[in-house]
Amino acid sequence: MKRTHVILLSASAVGLGLLLASCSNLTNRLPTPAQNPNEAVPTTSQALALPSDTPLPAASQAATAPAEEAARPSNPGGPGPAVNLTGDPTQGKAIFDQICSACHGPNGTKGIANPGSDDGSVPTLNPIDPTIANANPKIFAQNVDLFVEHGSTPSGPNPTTKMPSFGDSKILTPQQIANVISYVILLNSPAAAVTQSETVEPTVPETAEATSEPARPSNPGGPGQALTLTGDAAQGQAIFSQICSACHGPQGTKGIANPGSNDGSVPTLNPIDPTIANANPKIFAMNVDLFVEHGSTPEGPNPTTKMPSFGDSKILTPQQIADVIAYVISLNPQK
Ligand code: HEC
Ligand code: HEC
Repeated sequence: MKRTHVILLSASAVGLGLLLASCSNLTNRLPTPAQNPNEAVPTTSQALALPSDTPLPAASQAATAPAEEAARPSNPGGPGPAVNLTGDPTQGKAIFDQICSACHGPNGTKGIANPGSDDGSVPTLNPIDPTIANANPKIFAQNVDLFVEHGSTPSGPNPTTKMPSFGDSKILTPQQIANVISYVILLNSPAAAVTQSETVEPTVPETAEATSEPARPSNPGGPGQALTLTGDAAQGQAIFSQICSACHGPQGTKGIANPGSNDGSVPTLNPIDPTIANANPKIFAMNVDLFVEHGSTPEGPNPTTKMPSFGDSKILTPQQIADVIAYVISLNPQK
């Protein structure tokens, strides 16, 4: 895409914290994937107890030497309903690529920098902390689940990035959490036969130099169903502050740093690229919709952060996309 953006070198991941702090009044839930009751595993009775005395894989360690305690999130709470569901790692990979990889890196291999935290970066999930991994898949799942359910603030004077809560905040359904957990476990299985090569997203061939061409996402695809619906900007604001502001900043005013991209930072949406804005609200909506539906990889040698797909990936429903588009348009009133 040929565009110019204000480069906000000082943009930090402040917005990411909003994911954690954000309210959970998104009543229009993410789509619930079909659950398969036949595959549900029996309920364990560990709810509420913080299982810090969970046995480690080598049972021999348990008795005498105090076993190293499993890493636990700073936020309180017991295992969520996801631990009783059977996860689908293929579905989980789609969620991981869209959400988790923004902080934990592609396939969990590389956490982004986290200034102000003792660790200095977000932990990798591949390999995962050895106190979280466990030969017993149920214990492994629960160790991961506690972080995903409740979120966690890393130790350190002033961590820029926190682990968001996806369960308590209802950003993900229990089935989606089960799916992503099964993918994280698969990534850390010695026999992981998963192809860990990132699929290179097709890039739209560079068109002519016409600078007035509207910015388009690198991922292909036409306008989505959202454009046939009437968006509610107030609902859209709630979605925006839970999801979009993590990268585009509060009210879209400040994109986070994006090393490896030509722009150097995620674009602001307020103000939005002038080739996306349009006096005709239908065209404006379509220009935004294409990015939200299909996602986009910024130009540059090795962009750290990509625009996730929220439509193709079914993370948001058409109505939720319509709502968030209405909100983005409201941030950029046209004369
Ligand atoms: C906004 C950035 C961000 C996103 C998005 C994110 N995480 Fe995290 N995650 C973190 C941070 C920061 C920590 C460290 C928390 C701490 O040290 O208390 C963390 C910790 C974890 C841990 C514990 C790892 C350890 O070594 O302690 C797991 C497991 C985890 N995340 C899974 C996930 C999954 C699965 C997703 C996607 C559903 C996800 N995270 C999305 C930032 C993020
Ligand atoms: C993980 C980070 C991330 C999240 C979360 C995210 N975006 Fe983006 N967004 C990006 C990046 C990076 C780009 C630049 C893509 C490019 O240059 O091809 C972008 C581009 C866009 C654009 C095109 C802007 C332009 O100037 O080209 C729009 C519109 C947009 N995002 C809307 C949204 C909305 C609405 C949400 C929430 C539903 C959202 N984004 C969530 C990272 C993100």
